[in-house]
Amino acid sequence: MLSSEISKAGFFPGARFFVKSRVYYSVILALFMFSFSSILPVSLRADQPGALNLNLMPYPARVNLTGGEFRLTEKFYVGGHVKPDHRVFKAACRFMSRLAARTGLFFEQDYLAGQPVNDQTVFLYHFERPGQLVPGEDESYLLEINPEKIELKAKTDLGLLHGLETLLQVLSADSAGYYFPCLQIEDSPRFTWRGLLIDSSRHFMPVEVIKRNLLAMSAVKLNVLHWHLSDDQGFRVESKSFPRLHQLGSDGLYYRQAEIIDIIQLASDLGIRVVPEFDLPGHSTSWLVAYPEYGSLPGPYQLERKFGVSSPVFNPAEEKTYKFFDRFLKEMTFLFPDPYFHLGGDEVEPKHWKENPEIQKFMKKNKISDEAGLQAYFNRRLLQLLTKYHKKMIGWDEIYQPGLPKNIVIQSWRGQQALVDGAKKGYQGILSNGYYIDLVESAERHYLNDPLPSDSLLTPEEKKLILGGEATMWAELVTPETVDSRLWPRSAAIAERFWSPKEIRDVDDMYKRLRIISLSLEENGINHLKNQPMMLRRLAQSYEIGGLEVLARVAEPVKGYARHSQGKTYNSLAPLTRFVDACFPESLEARDFRQKVEKFIGNRDLRQAEEIKGCFRLWQENHQKIVRLANFSPILKETVPLSASLLTLSQIGVEAVDLLMKGKPAEPSWLEEKFKQLEEARKSVAECQLAIWPGVKALLDCLKK
Ligand code: ACM
Repeated sequence: MLSSEISKAGFFPGARFFVKSRVYYSVILALFMFSFSSILPVSLRADQPGALNLNLMPYPARVNLTGGEFRLTEKFYVGGHVKPDHRVFKAACRFMSRLAARTGLFFEQDYLAGQPVNDQTVFLYHFERPGQLVPGEDESYLLEINPEKIELKAKTDLGLLHGLETLLQVLSADSAGYYFPCLQIEDSPRFTWRGLLIDSSRHFMPVEVIKRNLLAMSAVKLNVLHWHLSDDQGFRVESKSFPRLHQLGSDGLYYRQAEIIDIIQLASDLGIRVVPEFDLPGHSTSWLVAYPEYGSLPGPYQLERKFGVSSPVFNPAEEKTYKFFDRFLKEMTFLFPDPYFHLGGDEVEPKHWKENPEIQKFMKKNKISDEAGLQAYFNRRLLQLLTKYHKKMIGWDEIYQPGLPKNIVIQSWRGQQALVDGAKKGYQGILSNGYYIDLVESAERHYLNDPLPSDSLLTPEEKKLILGGEATMWAELVTPETVDSRLWPRSAAIAERFWSPKEIRDVDDMYKRLRIISLSLEENGINHLKNQPMMLRRLAQSYEIGGLEVLARVAEPVKGYARHSQGKTYNSLAPLTRFVDACFPESLEARDFRQKVEKFIGNRDLRQAEEIKGCFRLWQENHQKIVRLANFSPILKETVPLSASLLTLSQIGVEAVDLLMKGKPAEPSWLEEKFKQLEEARKSVAECQLAIWPGVKALLDCLKK
């Protein structure tokens, strides 16, 4: 099957220093470092007293709870030796305003006017040098919270930014007010490349979407925005050398260069690299709409509305193609300062190459035996251009061909094996397979996927070539309204996989912390939570959306690429405003329910039984509300059978709990009938599935025994 969606599906399977002199400072720093050397790594488990109360994500490399607390008051003075245009100064200002917003405290310090260190300073930060936004840069930090003072130190300002986020995450509260628990944290990332891909082509993502997501990324220590800027459906960058690209290739939806510069500046302030991707030579219809003369067939071409792999492809056999890219890359490599430049390279459909006799002649003349060889030729030519413009190339795993220089990075999307194979041959790589958040899988699934699994057969030297990974937010089925809810909070779990020691893998604990992080992401303007009720109000055309909220809390969109095979044909104009779009990728309520069921199965406790039956009653009674809403809102009609399935599951569930409590075996005919109903209720409806289904099945299974 040639749709990219389907083919992707097939592979889917983290001292004090009132310094007067440099000497004084060095001594203090040495002592501070020494005190950390005795801290042992903390693996986060329920038997770790205190650790469970730290809602940190990604969890730091080393944490030592020292007891007591630093009480936050309005006399919270922050100070550091930085100038107002430093990253850290801006970060400290953001930190203070977030702290004020969260606590309602009216801080005495005018932190926007500057943060000199003086006798009042209780939170003091220091870094040694500005960090470079390049892979391998030092991002470590040391945080020490004592009852009277907080100190944060880092080698680079990038590390300091991470420390500020950690400090915000440990802010705690009790009836007496807000406080920071006393602790020492020594932290540094496991991987240097911790990315998030945002696809601005399939659906355009306005500047504010990118900006708020940069803030969220920095909150969880992600440090690379991989910006997918061109594809069949849209070319999204203003080009001054080839203006028809954005004029004809974008439906008017593109980023002006001034906006891009602004976004790169914000990213830099947040310690985030911006790696642009121009996907070539396939996935390129939008370019060829504007400049058909570089295509493999004469055209004309039209902007692609459908998703998947389409046939338009650049002509690699013509010199004029490389003249075009020379000018184009000269402009774009100047606009994007990152040392890496992504040329895509995935899913090249060779149909047009085969249909063009000149291209076939060119291949024969140059002894290029197949289309993969032709793509390799194209890549080598583009790599020469990138090298001329002092960039290193990154591409999807299809770009790998023998003979490519060793400074390229291969991004593995088709499987872990490509990453391993690349590393065995000496290539650096990053992993995206298993981090396709557009597939609306559980956070757990992504969390347990590791760029370097414990059973990896790579040598220590080869392991160093695995730079990290990237979550991918492909945008076929998201809009600016829904993208945050697909990105967050699950990307925070992925961020932890990229940052934290590999031993930190306790799934239940991850979920516990994820809920808290999810709340704090709203502070960065992420609207993953707040858009749901808004969307439900629009669907219901009513303020009374309680029933819809109950249903949405236990429903999930169908997984993987299944939405493309449920009857509707999605394209870039399709409405993404239905009930399924308002549902979160993962129902945390269903996860809780499943745990309740498991507990009940274990203990047959009456209270537990009543709690579970309480859930079932709520879902049963909900059905009439959905029916009533759908009577006045045709767009909600499709949710009625979904709600009816929830009713069925609840009826089965109540009966099953009662039987289990009575300790009586179920009649075989009753069981047979219930399993039939259960299977029926498993079917997806309105592109949704009921996430509580496994919990109900577990109850019935119990009666079989
Ligand atoms: C990809 O998902 N085609 C890189």
